[in-house]
Amino acid sequence: MRHLLTLDGLPRAALVHLLDRAQHYADHAGDPRTLEGFAVCTLFFEPSTRTRMSFQLAAQRLGAHVLNFDVSTSSARKGETALDTLRNLEAMGVRGFVVRHQDDGAVAMLADAAQPGTVLINAGDGRSAHPTQGLLDMLTLRQAKGDRFGSLKVAIVGDVRHSRVARSDLHALRVLGVGDIRVCGPAPLLPDAATLTGCHVTQDLDEALDGVDAVMMLRLQRERMEEGLVDSLEAYHRGYGLTRQRLSCAAPDAVVLHPGPMNRGVEITDEVADGPQSLILRQVANGVSMRMAVLQTLLSPDP
Ligand code: CP
Repeated sequence: MRHLLTLDGLPRAALVHLLDRAQHYADHAGDPRTLEGFAVCTLFFEPSTRTRMSFQLAAQRLGAHVLNFDVSTSSARKGETALDTLRNLEAMGVRGFVVRHQDDGAVAMLADAAQPGTVLINAGDGRSAHPTQGLLDMLTLRQAKGDRFGSLKVAIVGDVRHSRVARSDLHALRVLGVGDIRVCGPAPLLPDAATLTGCHVTQDLDEALDGVDAVMMLRLQRERMEEGLVDSLEAYHRGYGLTRQRLSCAAPDAVVLHPGPMNRGVEITDEVADGPQSLILRQVANGVSMRMAVLQTLLSPDP
C-alpha cells in the first residue's frame, strides 16, 4: 500500500493491521516521534475541523514537520492548479500529503502524477471516499463491540447518496464481514444499487433500527434541501431524525456514531448526541490514533 485512496479492495489483513496499530497508539501515552525528519502537508481544498486537525496532531506526535496549506491565502487563489501545488511542495521535500478535494477522483489523479516516494492520503474526495473516517469508525465499533463483526447488526442512516463517509464505512463493514448491514434514508438520498450491494435497504427508520447494535448517522447536507431532495428540515427530522424514542428500537446496548459536523435537531437530537449511547467524541479521539497509524504505516513501513 503506497497511498491510501479508498477502502475499496483493501485486504482484511491490511485493515486489521491499521486497527491494531491505532489501538496501540490509543493505549500507549507518549509521542513515538518515529517520523522525525519527514514533512507532511495537509492540502485541503474544502473546509474541515476534525480531519485536518487530527492529521496535524497525529503527524506532530510522530515527530514530523507539519505544513498546513491554507487555500484561501495560497496561490490557488491566483489560479495555480492542485497538481502544480503538489509539484512545488514536493520540490521543497514534502513527503506526505493529506488531501481533501471537492472532486471525485482528484486525490487519485494527484497520486498518479506524484513522484516516486511521495505518499498521498485521501482525506475526502467528492462523494467517493473518506477512508480514514471509515477506519476510525471501525476502530470505534471494535472498541465497543469487540471482534464479533460477523454477528453485528449495523444501520447507516441519512444522506447516503452524497456521503463519502457512508461509502468508506460500507467498504470497511463488508471487509470485516458484518453480516447485517442496513441502509436507510428517503428515496432521493439513497445511492445506486452497486453502492448498496449486500445491504438491506429501507425507507422506514424504525425497521432499520430494529435490534441493531450500532447506528451510524450521517450529516444531512443542507444544500440537498435547495436541490429539492428534501421537503424541509422539519420533515426530514420527523422521518429520519434519531431521537431517544426511536433509538429504543435498537438493541439496549446499541451505540451511536456520527462523523460530524452534526446538524443538531435535524438528523440527531441533543439528548442522543450527548447521551450515554453516543460514541461521537470517542470517534474524534480515535481519529488521532488512526491517523497516526496511517501516517506511520505509509511513510515508514515496517520491514
Ligand atoms: N468527519 C469529518 O470529515 O469532519 P471534518 O469535515 O470536520 O473534517
